[in-house]
Amino acid sequence: MTSRSDFAGGNQTYLRDVQYGDGAKLDVRTALHQRFSSAMVAFPDFAASLIDWTDDTRALDCGTGTGRFWDNRYVHKASSLTLTDLSPGMVQEAVSRARRNGFEHVTGRECDVQHLPYDDDSFDVVIANHMLYHVPDPDRAVVELARVLRPEGTLVAATNGYGHMGAMNDAIAEVFGSHAEALYEVFGIDTGEARLREQFTRVAWHAYDNDLFVSDPQAAVAYGLSFPPGETATDAQAVEFAAAIRSRFVDGQMRIRTRTGAFVCQAKRHP
Ligand SMILES: C[S@@+](CC[C@H](N)C(=O)[O-])C[C@H]1O[C@@H](n2cnc3c(N)ncnc32)[C@H](O)[C@@H]1O
Repeated sequence: MTSRSDFAGGNQTYLRDVQYGDGAKLDVRTALHQRFSSAMVAFPDFAASLIDWTDDTRALDCGTGTGRFWDNRYVHKASSLTLTDLSPGMVQEAVSRARRNGFEHVTGRECDVQHLPYDDDSFDVVIANHMLYHVPDPDRAVVELARVLRPEGTLVAATNGYGHMGAMNDAIAEVFGSHAEALYEVFGIDTGEARLREQFTRVAWHAYDNDLFVSDPQAAVAYGLSFPPGETATDAQAVEFAAAIRSRFVDGQMRIRTRTGAFVCQAKRHP
């Protein structure tokens, strides 16, 4: 494979300390989805609804970020949650949030999904949402996710595919010449499935249909400047990018198609 960009798993120090040192940049992107989504169901509820939860599920969340997944109405509050991330700042935010949401048994740990510090078969449910495209060796990560999952357990791995945030990526490409689609070469809808099938005999894709109808240009600009290449924009590029976003507004809104969803993986090949 050609060398990876910092954002697409090429630089873990950048991911841990700059992009995801805390939740600020991710929150900007999440806010755009939350404010302007046309989906009837929020993403955490969609993804959680794919899993059979019991009263005392032992769940591991890898690359938990700000812990947004646990803002769902499906998981019993007595479940035991292990929230992990490469970034200690994210672990802290996720643990606080889950506790605020009423979860009674929450543990946080800073760790790399490629080297999970847990015994084989330790968890009933493992979550790796929107994070495998940041990992240097996604196959190694999938081996680890399968290893710590008990044989009857379920792995949910959310990701995006080519065309996700299309109008946004077009505006980014217009000003900066490149955009974030390299992520999907690492682990996207098309590329991720083959990686998962190496470890699981049952892999099902569940699409989350959701166009964004953005009515606040500033929110779209902030999104585009929250990750590379826009993250290091000069003042002149930021002005140019704002104009590129505004030019995509029609009748007071910018329609952004998304291409996202989650893989549900069961039946490990090497139990
Ligand atoms: C796009 S965020 C997704 C957060 C959360 N899962 C969600 O869906 O909202 C990606 C997260 O993965 C984490 N991450 C990146 N590489 C990782 C690795 N090798 N191991 C564990 N976490 C990693 C980042 O620090 C970041 O918090």
